Amino acid sequence: MLEFKNEIPFVEDTSIHDIMKVSTTPFYIYSQEIITQKVKMTKKILGNNIFFSVKSNSNQAILKLMNSLNIGADVVSIGELKRSLSAGFASNKIIFEGVGKSKEDLIYAIQKNIRLINTESLEEIKLIQKLALEKNKFVNIGVRLNPNIDGGTISKISTGKKTDKFGIEISEIENIVNLVSSCNNLNLIGISCHIGSQISNVEAYKNTFAEMKKAADTFVSLGIKIKHVDLGGGFHIQYHKDDPKFEIEDLKGELDTCFGSSVYELSFEPGRYLIAEAGVLVTTIINTKQNGGINYLIVDAGMNTLIRPAMYGAHHEIVSISKKMDNSKTYTVAGPICESSDIFVKNILLPKQTMGDTLVIKNTGAYGKVMSSTYNTRSLPSEVLVNKDNFAMIYSPNKIEKDIEEDIIPSWL
Ligand SMILES: Cc1ncc(COP(=O)(O)O)c(C=O)c1O
Repeated sequence: MLEFKNEIPFVEDTSIHDIMKVSTTPFYIYSQEIITQKVKMTKKILGNNIFFSVKSNSNQAILKLMNSLNIGADVVSIGELKRSLSAGFASNKIIFEGVGKSKEDLIYAIQKNIRLINTESLEEIKLIQKLALEKNKFVNIGVRLNPNIDGGTISKISTGKKTDKFGIEISEIENIVNLVSSCNNLNLIGISCHIGSQISNVEAYKNTFAEMKKAADTFVSLGIKIKHVDLGGGFHIQYHKDDPKFEIEDLKGELDTCFGSSVYELSFEPGRYLIAEAGVLVTTIINTKQNGGINYLIVDAGMNTLIRPAMYGAHHEIVSISKKMDNSKTYTVAGPICESSDIFVKNILLPKQTMGDTLVIKNTGAYGKVMSSTYNTRSLPSEVLVNKDNFAMIYSPNKIEKDIEEDIIPSWL
């Protein structure tokens, strides 16, 4: 996504230098072209029932773009549901997941007549029935199942094992059917699963598909007409050149073998796969130092801007856009936050850097800005969308003074 033309860094036909004239670092840039290509390619392989996982990037402009590409939205909170509706998604193209939905969240989703509320427990099914009855509504629900499959990803983003907090165990299907049969306001028409994120292991997907097909058939044999089988997201992208390669095409054969001519409508909820590679984070070096023989570059983006390295030990490639490689040096790139874990990468080779130079952190379109915070009372990052030689600010943070004003001092102080 980042290209150099005559040594000038470009995203599509827009120079990053031009963006820097109107936006201070740190900021995220997204390429509309790459998002569009990724969505089209995914639809071509997996079919039209793609629901963008809004948790990965919930900017209104990004959601509007996703909606214009004719995909749905997969939300995990009432806030994301409101964001999706506000960006123009039709109610019947929104799926509401989430391991903890409050009564108010459910009432809102019921009133909006969304496509499916995917429930995560028997207790929640009872609550939805009670609320639907009170509101005199018939509600389409799905159940998120826990297929007890280890996707082989890191434990912090694994969601499909029996001991994970997500979904309902497959052994509960009969209990679900018995319960739903007594719920006159509920229409159980779907099952879903999501075994985790950043999964490259095709075998894990294959086993998941098999479990879900078996589960759907079991529901049908017990008299429940399952229409939608949602197979989740989690598709892997390559953050590091040594990461395993994952080809979404490899799932196609497994899907055909497993679901063949079955009548279920298959759907998917990718987030990272559609947008991670379409984003970069631009940051300025604000200090340099040598401690214990380590050459530190301290940049103005920190773990508050992009938390993945500190939280998951994630790797993001970092490149210099100010200097050429002819005079390289080994650096550790760290943020300004008062935490030792605020390090983006250790011991990378970069051209010799000085204060004021600019670095670009790659593949940050997913789980970047959405996970940012004002920790250490620092501003949130801005966001910019590029469309060929056009670009627009799509998020501009509050001034810190405004954040400070939002604190409330009690009368006794
Ligand atoms: C329920 C659900 N669906 C979809 C996703 C999207 O995952 P990914 O961004 O890895 O595709 C997630 C994220 O973990 C999720 O929790």
